[in-house]
Amino acid sequence: MKTNTHKKIVVVLSLVTFLISSCKKEETCDIPQEITYTKQIASMVETECFLCHAPDVYKKKASRNKIFDYPSLKKMGESGQLIGSITHAKGYIAMPYRKNKKIDSCAIEVFKKWVDLGMPE
Ligand code: HEC
Repeated sequence: MKTNTHKKIVVVLSLVTFLISSCKKEETCDIPQEITYTKQIASMVETECFLCHAPDVYKKKASRNKIFDYPSLKKMGESGQLIGSITHAKGYIAMPYRKNKKIDSCAIEVFKKWVDLGMPE
């Protein structure tokens, strides 16, 4: 009797583990075919980065790193700094600064694809 209950628990537990792991794998990003600065990127920078990089926080925080206008952000994309910093790659300063946490993984994919597409405005 006892072993039977034990078996049942094992079965239930492995089922739960399986369900949790399959859930995680299904986490896919809905990435648009076309990504432009105006359509997606500008507002993403605004929500994820303006806390420190907004133009009006000039000199106080990080706004000297002009990621808030298209030409400057494009330059950071070309130099590898943009993707390097949001993916916490070696040799770049990890962003968001000192949060020890990355932005949403799907948002990172959108940034990456935008750079791959040549950073259209
Ligand atoms: C909590 C404040 C904060 C947030 C949020 C933040 N940054 Fe920064 N960022 C900084 C600071 C401060 C620096 C300057 C670091 C230095 O020069 O030591 C910086 C520098 C940078 C640089 C230059 C990195 C380098 O390697 O020189 C890039 C690119 C950058 N940020 C991108 C972003 C992006 C993209 C986001 C949004 C996803 C973001 N940051 C969010 C504070 C922040």
